[in-house]
Amino acid sequence: MNCLILRIILCTMVQATAIACSNIAFIKYWGNRDATLRLPLNNSISMNLDSATTTTTVAFDPALDDDVVVIGDQVAQGRHRARVVAHLERVRALARIATRARVHSRNNFPMGAGIASSASAFAALSLAATRAAGLELSERELSMLARQGSGSACRSIPGGFVEWYAGSTSAESYAVQLAPPSFWDLRDVIAVVSTTEKSVGSTDGHAAALSSHFFAERLAALPARLARVRHALAARDLPALGIASEEDAIELHLIAMTSRPPIFYWSPGTVRVIQAVQCWRAEGLAVYFTLDAGPNVHLLCHARDADTVVARVREIPEVLQVIVNAPGGAARLVDEHLF
Ligand code: DP6
Repeated sequence: MNCLILRIILCTMVQATAIACSNIAFIKYWGNRDATLRLPLNNSISMNLDSATTTTTVAFDPALDDDVVVIGDQVAQGRHRARVVAHLERVRALARIATRARVHSRNNFPMGAGIASSASAFAALSLAATRAAGLELSERELSMLARQGSGSACRSIPGGFVEWYAGSTSAESYAVQLAPPSFWDLRDVIAVVSTTEKSVGSTDGHAAALSSHFFAERLAALPARLARVRHALAARDLPALGIASEEDAIELHLIAMTSRPPIFYWSPGTVRVIQAVQCWRAEGLAVYFTLDAGPNVHLLCHARDADTVVARVREIPEVLQVIVNAPGGAARLVDEHLF
């Protein structure tokens, strides 16, 4: 009898666990043509981050009356829960099921502090939830699905160096690999100067971006900058990649600061790290900065210089934590479940 019950439970509840890397954009996603579908106004290019990952286990369980979402050790509430439930609804629609799900998710880095936690979170959720629902999506389909949870998440589905084609319809808007992780031994050293959740999330930042009068200028400049970044990647040319990435990051923050109402993501520590990078470069160290929508600074350097960069960053009093990332792989299934 017990054996029969166990067999029934195993047949009706299938767990799947996925792990996905966060990513850092060299050319940023900032502004949507369609905010509901998360169709961006420009292509973006990024690198997956191997030390900033989310692990997510999903099980659709007929015994549940409602979805249960646990992030870290906390039962998620409010907008965090609502966003995960909305994504589960997309998966249920694809799988034509109505069963509620249990979701447990864990990051190995601080949430909401400019390290794109939504990217790894929605990439891992997309893979785990579709598998748990019995679906096997292609990389492109998974990327399209992840995009609707969080735009940058579509870039965390393929591995290594990735471009997200903006497209003008949902079916045209997905990310593809430009080069595998092994192609270039680049490092992204994250100087964490704040771990508190930012007051204006990316979703609101995207909506506000179009109110900046610099926005149209940025869109016009992007095709040439995208081409520079593609060439820099193909040639493994760090100075070319670094300069283009700095330009793009500064432009994102210029647009945020000139949006109506203005958004300031920087803290004093942000400026300290940027100024230090400029000094180190003047002294001959090949290091470049970029930022997401937050105060933390990502430093791009060769693997051989990473120890030097880490040692120097640690000397800056505002730096609370340093996370070193090599190019990360694609979102993948794992056998160790979180419940
Ligand atoms: C500044 O993907 O976090 O990191 O789609 O609203 O979840 P939502 O936005 P999100 O935006 C990322 C913005 C960025 C730049 C980038 O990663 O391209």
